[in-house]
Amino acid sequence: MELLIKGAHLIDGHHAFNRDIYMKDGKIEEIGEDLEYDCHWVDADGLVLLPAFVDIHAHFRDPGFTHKEDLMTGGMAALKGGFTFVNLMGNTNPVCSNMETIRYVRDKARDLDLVQVHQCASITDSFDGKTLAHLDDLDNDVIMITDDGKGVTSPLTMYRAMEKARDKGRIVMAHAEEMELTEIDYRLSENLETVRDIYLAKHTGARLHLTHVSTREAMDEIRRAKAGGADNITCDVTPHHISLWDNDYRVNPPIREKEDVEALIEGIRDGTVDAIGTDHAPHTQEDKKEGSPGISGIETAFGICHTYLVKAGHIDMGQLVKLMSENPARILGLNKGRLQSGYDGDVVLVDLEKEMEINGDDFVSKGKNTPFSGMKVKGEILMTIRGGSIKYLTKEYGKERVYDNR
Ligand code: DOR
Repeated sequence: MELLIKGAHLIDGHHAFNRDIYMKDGKIEEIGEDLEYDCHWVDADGLVLLPAFVDIHAHFRDPGFTHKEDLMTGGMAALKGGFTFVNLMGNTNPVCSNMETIRYVRDKARDLDLVQVHQCASITDSFDGKTLAHLDDLDNDVIMITDDGKGVTSPLTMYRAMEKARDKGRIVMAHAEEMELTEIDYRLSENLETVRDIYLAKHTGARLHLTHVSTREAMDEIRRAKAGGADNITCDVTPHHISLWDNDYRVNPPIREKEDVEALIEGIRDGTVDAIGTDHAPHTQEDKKEGSPGISGIETAFGICHTYLVKAGHIDMGQLVKLMSENPARILGLNKGRLQSGYDGDVVLVDLEKEMEINGDDFVSKGKNTPFSGMKVKGEILMTIRGGSIKYLTKEYGKERVYDNR
């Protein structure tokens, strides 16, 4: 399998230049000027080419809630959003607490051959909040555990889970929510559990990834921990928490205040934030009406981040690529996220100037739940390539620009 892309402006976290890029056997083989190969080639003149995105936080709801999403629709939605790798949460039915369920997800994703997946295991068995014995029975290639959707209420349970994770080299992803306090004050609930988990991670030495960080105070705590040398702690923020405020669209954690948004963006600017994670959380219309929290966000993540971070002048495109590709890939131990020979041939072609009006009804995800409908953002994903093979392309683009030179 070979593919040559000619004439694009290549941007990653280290370079920005006009080059051709040639991919072979799943990897980037060569980046250079005026490359010629007898293979399929893409005329990308005037377009920007980035490393494909890696989503450190997504819900594909398979098994058990496939009326909301499944691995096929989730995979297609991810590719449309420019993602080639997704780290899936375990709040499925059954919960991903054993290798049988995890293997079901892996095998189905492999057979579908859309995006690559890592399926997280739950921290506590079936989210019971206390049992950890199942962690000893997981294969070593389960590299992250999380009870995302819920906080782990008991500090002792989280402590023991971190010890186990540390001993196996796993990452604990924390949905920082002190569940008993949520009904009183969700801000207090996030802040308290963030502090607790930072202390536990510092004490145990386990790798901790704080996901969907949403408050100014939590961001300050993470900044302070990192400045104090806690290099075992990483975090992500979502596209919705960096772009919305004073908005009661139901999501966990909730949409916060303007000063929180500013604090998250400051965290992005100063490097406290490692990654953007979509927290793609598809729900049916009925489930949303009944109060299910979540946003179907994987198809709109790039447009929102490009518009609210890059176009707004907070960061440049190279920094956005680090947040959406290189850093999440590094956290997950993937050979992705950079445009350099030897890295996986996972790239996206984008038209950065194309204005898009978001409309949930256009999503390929089963979840049409978005607070962004009607909003205009800049940047269209025209083509998503994984392992040197075209996995998604817009109809207009495919007709005009893909040639066979064999
Ligand atoms: O809004 C959310 N939805 N936040 C979560 O943590 C869980 C997710 C879901 O599974 O729907």
